[in-house]
Amino acid sequence: MRTQVCIIGGGPSGLLLSQLLHRKGIDSIVLERKTRDYVLGRIRAGILETGFVELMREAGVGARMDAEGFTHDGTVIAYGEEEFGISFHAHTGTDVMVYGQTELTRDLYDAREAANGKLVFNVEDVQINDAQSEAPYVTYHVDGIAHRIDCDYIAGCDGFHGVSRQTIPTSVRREYEKVYPFGWLGVLSETPPVHNELIYSWSERGFALCSMRNANLSRYYIQCSLSDSPDDWTDTAFWGELKRRIPSRHAEALVTGPSIEKSIAPLRSFVTEPMRWGRLFLCGDAAHIVPPTGAKGLNTAASDIHYLYHGLVQFYQDKDTAGLDAYSEKALARVWKAERFSWSTTNLLHRYPDQSEFDLKMQRAEIDFLRGNDAAQKVFAQNYVGLPY
Ligand code: APR
Ligand code: PHB
Repeated sequence: MRTQVCIIGGGPSGLLLSQLLHRKGIDSIVLERKTRDYVLGRIRAGILETGFVELMREAGVGARMDAEGFTHDGTVIAYGEEEFGISFHAHTGTDVMVYGQTELTRDLYDAREAANGKLVFNVEDVQINDAQSEAPYVTYHVDGIAHRIDCDYIAGCDGFHGVSRQTIPTSVRREYEKVYPFGWLGVLSETPPVHNELIYSWSERGFALCSMRNANLSRYYIQCSLSDSPDDWTDTAFWGELKRRIPSRHAEALVTGPSIEKSIAPLRSFVTEPMRWGRLFLCGDAAHIVPPTGAKGLNTAASDIHYLYHGLVQFYQDKDTAGLDAYSEKALARVWKAERFSWSTTNLLHRYPDQSEFDLKMQRAEIDFLRGNDAAQKVFAQNYVGLPY
């Protein structure tokens, strides 16, 4: 088989790239290790930056997002019984969209299938070959049968555990990592959200986040120990702990119910450089991971896709490789800033096992500064709605 762009990974990054390229008449094949249902079963964040929202519309998949998503023009930061709002709209003139990653991925799958896009599921043993040559190719197996795709370029959109990043030799690849000494226990429940905006809450007992998907679907998280397992937490224990970590007026208003999903995610900051090796381009989680505080995971994936998409269009339309040549540098410049925001917001709001009284005072002073300082709120808002592409 031959295609112009071979895309490894059918998560949001790979699907969005494939859909955007299709709209410009550029052919691609998406290779996914799992099934569509498996990919859609993963519960992830759901806050879309303005740039991502525009990219979805440009890809022709914005209709359901625009109809069912919720615009959020601010957020709440709480600490103990105190709380304050940060208006995105007042500080940046724009806002974010609450629309779950599951829904967005479903829209992308539907669009690719409606356009007869080439998606191959259950692929095994994917290997990237001759990425440094003019004629790269990808080999894989499905049901024990070997396949080969020849292509011009390869997009490595196969997440943190994929093969693409590992294909870049260690002599070339540099990795930067920080692992945090806690995780997030997340619960999805068919209950109305406790508040109309998200609440990011610092507490003596650890961080908590009140988020949502729609009027009757809420997403809540509490900071937990890395040694915890979701089975250690009954629903009653989860709700009780959440209530102790948010201001009492919200705790009293909280509607609880059975969890329909409960999972623990470790927190990690990770970046690999460069994001290009010959004709292989890394995108999204394959190249970088952020802790979820600030919801930048999906959004950094989207900005990578933006740069790669424009680079590929420039190549196919004008035979100009300038955009592709600048890809790694441009993508990384933005990624590092999102890494900084996610890291600093994590530091601001979590309890660390070895925190001294001094460290706690610093955290408190920083939250107080954010509360009282317009410029600090503007910086927070600019980062939250997303830095320009
Ligand atoms: N071959 C083919 N597909 C693979 C391989 C492989 N060797 N390894 C992994 N995959 C698939 C995974 O099954 C997954 O569906 O690649 C896909 C990668 O998807 P994600 O991990 O979702 O990564 P990405 O598309 O970059 O999405 C960005 O942002 O909100 C965050 O982490 C969250 O998933 C989200 C990410
Ligand atoms: C979520 O709704 O899952 C969510 C929202 C904001 C975050 C992280 C996760 O910062």
